[in-house]
Amino acid sequence: MTPTLESQADLASVVEDAITSRMSVRAFLPREVPRSLLQHLLEVASRAPSGTNTQPWKVYVLTGASRDALVAKVCAAHDALRADPALAANFREEYDYYPEKWVSPYIDRRRENGWGLYGLLGIGKGDKDMMHAQHQRNYRFFDAPVGLMFTIDRVMGRGSLLDYGMYLQSLMVAARAQGLHTCPQAAWNGFANIILPHIGADEGDMLVCGMALGYADPTDLVNTFQTPRVAVNDFTTWLD
Ligand SMILES: Cc1cc2nc3c(=O)[nH]c(=O)nc-3n(C[C@H](O)[C@H](O)[C@H](O)COP(=O)(O)O)c2cc1C
Repeated sequence: MTPTLESQADLASVVEDAITSRMSVRAFLPREVPRSLLQHLLEVASRAPSGTNTQPWKVYVLTGASRDALVAKVCAAHDALRADPALAANFREEYDYYPEKWVSPYIDRRRENGWGLYGLLGIGKGDKDMMHAQHQRNYRFFDAPVGLMFTIDRVMGRGSLLDYGMYLQSLMVAARAQGLHTCPQAAWNGFANIILPHIGADEGDMLVCGMALGYADPTDLVNTFQTPRVAVNDFTTWLD
């Protein structure tokens, strides 16, 4: 059915609002998210495209005791790692999410992001304890009642991670449409050797990332953090 002009405008505004109101929320309310709503979001997101419809996503939804137990395990490992940095050898990421060698302009944007967030929270460059505590909040899903873990079969190629990103963004945008917020989290990736057995991941699967999902705490300062974007004409080449 061809939409009328008016409904086309309404659709644009709804879709664009869902996309542009998505942000990484780092403080959530303890309000539960009904399982039926989670099921719905996962289903909507599954309309994401993937090369030859391979649909490489495998999703683990952690709530209640399973969520709390994972939080306890990974927070303990994060603390242990800080106490003994030599343990880092046990906590390796399975794929390079970030470049081995940082170069401009990416390193500049990364620094701006990191110091912007820490600056807002009053965390100075030497505040190792506060930095650790803020980082640790990742491993509590920023208090969100729902933690998601995403895995992929290791046999899949790099292109499948592209497909995966489409699933993740679809899920985050669909969550917005229901008044929910999210924070995608690569912070979990180094702890795959704890997470994969905890969630009962299939043999041969690797961790792609985690995600916090829930209702944002509007009173928490951290959620006022806004990130800039590069102007369109600075990343686009028009070829007429
Ligand atoms: C795959 C992925 C992993 C991320 N991992 C983390 C994370 O571990 N912890 C965190 O606080 N933010 C994480 N972020 C959020 C980014 O910092 C954030 O998307 C970026 O700064 C832009 O801000 P916005 O999401 O509020 O628009 C991640 C984002 C993506 C896409």
